[in-house]
Amino acid sequence: MKKYSLLLFVALFASIAVGQQTQLMLKTMKNIVLETKNLSLVLTIEENKDVNMVYLGKKLQDHIEYRQLANQYKQGHDYTNMYQSAYTASGTRNLLEPAISVEHADGNQSLDLKFVDQQLRTLDNNRKELIIQLKDELYAFHVELHYLTNYEENVIEQWAVIKHNEKKNVKLIKYASANLSLKGEDFYLRSFHGDWIAEMQREDEKLTHGIKTLDSKLGTRTNLFRSSYFALGLDGSINEHEGTVLIGGLDWSGNFRVDFEKDPQDNLRVVAGINNYAAHYSLAPGVDFFTPKFSFTVSTNGLGDGSRNLHDWARKRRLIDGYGERYTVLNNWESTYFNFDEQKISHLLDNTKKLGVDLFLLDDGWFGNKYPRNADTSALGDWSENKSKLPNGLISIVKEASDKDVKFGIWVEPEMVSPKSELYEKKPNWVVKQPKREEYYFRNQLVLDLSNPEVQDFVFHILDELFQKNPGLAYVKWDCNAVIYNAHSFYQKDQNNFYVDYTKGLYQVLDRFRQKYPTVPMMLCSGGGGRIDYGSLQYFTEYWPSDNTDPFDRIFMQYENSLFFPAIASVNHVTTFGKQELKFKIDVAMMGKMGFDLNLEELTSEELKFAQQAVKTYDQYKHIIWHGDLYRLSDPRKDNHASIAYVNKDKSEAIMFNYLVQYGQVSKTPTPVRWYGLDPQKQYKIQEINLHDANSWIASDLILSGDFLMKIGLNPVLNNNRKSVVLTLKAIN
Ligand code: GLA
Repeated sequence: MKKYSLLLFVALFASIAVGQQTQLMLKTMKNIVLETKNLSLVLTIEENKDVNMVYLGKKLQDHIEYRQLANQYKQGHDYTNMYQSAYTASGTRNLLEPAISVEHADGNQSLDLKFVDQQLRTLDNNRKELIIQLKDELYAFHVELHYLTNYEENVIEQWAVIKHNEKKNVKLIKYASANLSLKGEDFYLRSFHGDWIAEMQREDEKLTHGIKTLDSKLGTRTNLFRSSYFALGLDGSINEHEGTVLIGGLDWSGNFRVDFEKDPQDNLRVVAGINNYAAHYSLAPGVDFFTPKFSFTVSTNGLGDGSRNLHDWARKRRLIDGYGERYTVLNNWESTYFNFDEQKISHLLDNTKKLGVDLFLLDDGWFGNKYPRNADTSALGDWSENKSKLPNGLISIVKEASDKDVKFGIWVEPEMVSPKSELYEKKPNWVVKQPKREEYYFRNQLVLDLSNPEVQDFVFHILDELFQKNPGLAYVKWDCNAVIYNAHSFYQKDQNNFYVDYTKGLYQVLDRFRQKYPTVPMMLCSGGGGRIDYGSLQYFTEYWPSDNTDPFDRIFMQYENSLFFPAIASVNHVTTFGKQELKFKIDVAMMGKMGFDLNLEELTSEELKFAQQAVKTYDQYKHIIWHGDLYRLSDPRKDNHASIAYVNKDKSEAIMFNYLVQYGQVSKTPTPVRWYGLDPQKQYKIQEINLHDANSWIASDLILSGDFLMKIGLNPVLNNNRKSVVLTLKAIN
């Protein structure tokens, strides 16, 4: 049998009587079976040319048996045979939440999409793309459904391309990326809500009949209140190591909307796409409208497998340089805020070297002259060096950094403008605001209209000029602190297009930047975790999870983010936030991309020595954390501790982070933490690292087999004297 196959075959005709009405089950003309290593997604083309989605789950050994699917799921009445539509069109026969709704050029609002053709393209030896063409029989209106399978990673990317040849513009009232139809007993949703410094709060719920929606209407910084990424338990509650779960989200940084509808037959329909709120998009004839990708995996072994699939896929297909290296950083934000000058920076460059990290990151406050950036109330948009803070320009400190053998990075927030700025004075029409209403600010700032190509050009040049003028520049922190209030574009003819074109404009700028600077590392920051999605992450190497750097809170956030995003992308800084000892802070920062944002002068000499040693230790193990497989061994929301492990691909080395999260006089880990992902045949030497002022409570000659570790486990001996423990495993056979 071919490794990868798409099968077409004819299935049986069936007709059943339901109550007083006759329900005609249409004759399925063709099944289309899309496969990855473990999964299959089955579509059917019905006799009336409807396209349905009838299965997503473990793949069957014998393809022929997919034809039996329909007979096993006779769940009652589907009045119009559309509950399972692969892309539900509205205004004709639909009774449930549509994937697409339009107003044609003549004002008519009906749409009925019928199968026209299909193609299967082989992209490489791991990826195939199925394209299904649909067309309305009355209108010159077309939709292409795209399904891209990543075979090894079991990840499916789905999107739609919408186009028409009607006489005038068509209004897209709703235009989802994907419309899944899922079978199951009980469906559970795990979603994440939050706010500034309280990002990624987990919420689990059982889905009941009706519609549950995850959405954002913030325009920019759209994850401020919630993530568009979620997990869905398809056969009962959601577990780490067992059960069937779908994990994924919309790869889009603008407004999103994901509807979960439990239908009258108790199946679940997921409709995911751009939020159509205030965005009935006006589409000109002949123009292709690409929806963003909805990317997901399904694991039949719980969340853990699903995350590992997504991490592998993201490192290969989304993140810039996902399997590459990253710089360790000293940042000056929390140690200086806006208050610095050349001399202080020079000292911070020395400290970067002293600490042993790779790069110094100069944060907010380096720009603005007519309105200097001495607080967050001015100067966004005026991207030239402040002459009193940096009289010799950035170029001189970039050069000094290089002389000191330190890399240099810089903060920008190029999408924004301060009302107190020269840019605002010169280009009021570049600003997103209602012309006749009072301005309303988020962090004292407004958003530039990136739907306008002139503004896109301006934003690109901010970055480009920084690199042109300062060739040694090695890193960028791209921030985005404001949401969009008073959404109005002076550029758009139809305001309905603004939200979508803003995000597409942002991607155009990032794309142009990446064409010129393909690998320069860049951190995606949005006042913390306001923009963490694979739409934007395809232009970045890493992201900033939260402005909350208290390591206790970070344990939870980093744990939750690990569901979707690999550790190499999570920027974790050691700061003065939190009352915990330095060791605890470093241990928490190490479970991702470690950095520092503190004043070395405030450390005792012992602490400084410890931090310097930790940077060296991190150097030895970072490749396992960045490139290895993640195993969540204890859940801090269920247990009194969190345990997170990374195992390298050949299972010869591993590192395990353990943190106590409930403090009491007798708090401890009473039972061993069971491992996953090791080689049962291997013997592992266990060692405790990052020890500060203390001997390890783990015997220095401890050797345990993978078999023992995965059947019994290992007790990290967390207690009040040992609130965080980092252990390494090295195979000796
Ligand atoms: C945001 C970022 C911070 C810092 C400040 C600077 O809040 O999340 O890390 O860069 O902006 O103003």
